[in-house]
Amino acid sequence: FVKQTLKGQHWVITAGPTVEAIDPVRYLANRSSGKMGYAVADMAAKAGAKVTLVSGPVCLEAPTGVKRIKVESAQAMLEAVQNNLGADSVFVSCAAVADYRPTETANQKMKKSGDEGLSIELMQNPDILRWVAKNSSAFCVGFAAETQNVSDYAKSKMQRKGISMICANDVSRCDIGFSCDDNELQVFYIDNGNIEERQIGPASKSQVAEELIKVIEKVRHS
Ligand code: C5P
Repeated sequence: FVKQTLKGQHWVITAGPTVEAIDPVRYLANRSSGKMGYAVADMAAKAGAKVTLVSGPVCLEAPTGVKRIKVESAQAMLEAVQNNLGADSVFVSCAAVADYRPTETANQKMKKSGDEGLSIELMQNPDILRWVAKNSSAFCVGFAAETQNVSDYAKSKMQRKGISMICANDVSRCDIGFSCDDNELQVFYIDNGNIEERQIGPASKSQVAEELIKVIEKVRHS
């Protein structure tokens, strides 16, 4: 990797799951180890960028030289992103944000009531990536974890969210994706009005991160 290629740039990266409290001991969350986002943060910092990593709860050390902001809920993740994003930041949205949160969070641990089931009312969380794409001039890179029709879903997601690039991975495969150290990405991006495609990996998440940063740089400057 060419050292200091990203010098002078600010990258904001979200990683890990968000957790949405049901009561003080229970929550709703998505499956995410945070490894891909942490690898991107690490590589971007190694390449000279100022990096802010907004992270949900994960078992990973903050990469050297990275400012990590720990959050729990999607709402808190959105606020941390809003407070840290600059006018010309690069925004890489790796986090597995919970789409819904309980409408109410109980103050005390909820108790079982006999044999009855339990319904929890959910409301939609803000879409952080869509908010950034709509309200800032940041270059936005999204991720799409899919289990089928990976490329079709990813392309329509890129257009729906109004972002410049999306990295799709097939999380139904057990050799890549969730919790693994390896990953393979189908990257789609818009170039001269056309959707272009590029495959990265299979390789370690840090090699994939390095390659992804190179693609982001190329597309941003084309
Ligand atoms: O809509 P979906 O969750 O599949 O989109 C995935 C992409 O959108 C990821 O980049 C994820 O980080 C981002 N996202 C977000 N806020 C949400 C949901 C998803 O930033 N509430």
